[in-house]
Amino acid sequence: MNTRRKVLSAAIAGLAIPAVMLLAQGPAGAQDGSALQKKCMGCHGDAAPAAIKGPSLKGVFGKSVAADKAYAYSDGLKAKASQKWTQQNLDAFLADPNTWAPGTKMKGKAADPAERAAIIESLKTLK
Ligand code: HEC
Repeated sequence: MNTRRKVLSAAIAGLAIPAVMLLAQGPAGAQDGSALQKKCMGCHGDAAPAAIKGPSLKGVFGKSVAADKAYAYSDGLKAKASQKWTQQNLDAFLADPNTWAPGTKMKGKAADPAERAAIIESLKTLK
C-alpha cells in the first residue's frame, strides 16, 4: 500500500466510525429495545402497515380514551371515550383489551404484570 492510499483509508475509517455510532444510537427512545418497542411499536409506530396501524401513542398517558381525531377507532373503544388512560385503565386494557373494551381492534397484549408496568412507564415518556 502506498502512502496516499494509507492516508485515504485512514480518513475513511475516521469518517465511518462516527457514522456507525450514530446509526447504533438511533432516535432517542424509539429503538431502545424496551418491551414497548418490541411488543407495541410494530403497530403504533410510523412504519406500521395501514391494515394493522394503531393510533399514535404520543402523550397517551392521562389522555381521554379514543381521542385522536385523525384515527378511526372501533365502536368498542369509542364506547370508553368518557374515560382517561390512567395507570389502572391502561393496566386492565393491556392485560386483556377485549375484556376492558369489548369489540376493540387492538391486538397487543402484555399478560405479565411486571412487563405491563414497564410498558406503562415507557408510555409515560412518549410525549
Ligand atoms: C397488532 C397491532 C397492535 C399491537 C401489537 C398493539 N396495538 Fe395498541 N392498538 C392497535 C389498534 C388497531 C388500536 C385501535 C383500537 C380500536 O380502535 O379499538 C390500538 C389502540 C391502543 C390504545 C388506545 C389509544 C387511544 O388513542 O385511545 C393504546 C393505549 C394502545 N393501543 C397501546 C398499546 C400497547 C401499550 C401495546 C403493546 C403492549 C399495543 N398497543 C400493541 C393495534 C395494536
